[in-house]
Amino acid sequence: MSNNLTKENIVQLVLNNKPLKPVLNTAQAYAPANIALAKYWGKRNENLNLPFTSSLSLSLGNYGANTAVKEHTGQDRYVLNDVEQDKNTEFSQRLAAYLDLFRPHSDFHFLIETTSTVPIAAGVASSAAGFAALCLALNDFFGWHLSKEQLSILTRLGSGSAARSLWPGFVQWHAGIAEDGMDSYAEKLDYHWPELRMGLLLLSTEKKHTSSREAMQRTVRTSPFYNRWPQQVAHAVVNLRKAIQNQDFNCLGRTAEENALAMHATMLTAHPTICYWLPETLATMQKIWQLRESGISVYFTQDAGSNLKLLFLADQILMLSQLFPELIIIDPFCTPCSLK
Ligand code: PMV
Repeated sequence: MSNNLTKENIVQLVLNNKPLKPVLNTAQAYAPANIALAKYWGKRNENLNLPFTSSLSLSLGNYGANTAVKEHTGQDRYVLNDVEQDKNTEFSQRLAAYLDLFRPHSDFHFLIETTSTVPIAAGVASSAAGFAALCLALNDFFGWHLSKEQLSILTRLGSGSAARSLWPGFVQWHAGIAEDGMDSYAEKLDYHWPELRMGLLLLSTEKKHTSSREAMQRTVRTSPFYNRWPQQVAHAVVNLRKAIQNQDFNCLGRTAEENALAMHATMLTAHPTICYWLPETLATMQKIWQLRESGISVYFTQDAGSNLKLLFLADQILMLSQLFPELIIIDPFCTPCSLK
């Protein structure tokens, strides 16, 4: 297979002659947001969002996206949290480019209505949940009956981390080695950990200066530390799987925190440097390290932004909500969770 494969080629491979003909008037689906504990950082194929390494995430239970798909006459309409989106926004343009992959013909138009249940400005990329909910809804709308693994491949074409948003709980995205990426999809890890919590700590609402796409690209191309990353993340995935299996919280937290710091080390050493840390970010990290020294088991992870996500167990909820009054606490294994 050649390296010039397009997203259209991959859609054809996955759909395998299944028709782009709606079988429902409207289809609706929910998908949770997810936070990686071992990060996806760097693409071996930028066009197909194929990663260099596997990654492992925790889905955010009832925090995600509800998306409805309908046919619409005239032109596409996108509604996000009850607000009609202008065609020129980044949101609309990304969505339109993605929907073009599934448009039955050029006169076919979609109405996409999405409601995000992620708290507004919580610093959690809701696009992963959005693309995953959209794919689940398209699967019903067109009556494809694709497996979750096949849907994960389609979802990845929207945004890499979205490949992991089709399941609740722990999810591993296998990097794969095939040039067409047909072996690069996510899979649910069948473990339940009811005491585990994730806390969202919003430290700044400013729009980030560098997109994750741009930051990944620059890091891969220029950071002398990037060649150490595949080994770091491979170890992290092994350790996280052990920690999850044994419900070893300190191993889980330590591994996730070290992996996030290693990812940021590759960015800091990129040229020009990429630094998502604000003074508040570092001050909060120091506060967490001090808390750990005093015997409190709390760890953090950080994505391509200045906010931190805390990891802790349910018995620390009271203490941590006093120490961080603004903390949004998420129960990833809540019942009932919107996605089974
Ligand atoms: O899926 P993207 O292109 O938004 O990239 C996500 C990158 C990180 O959030 C930093 C890591 C991850 O695995 O989610």
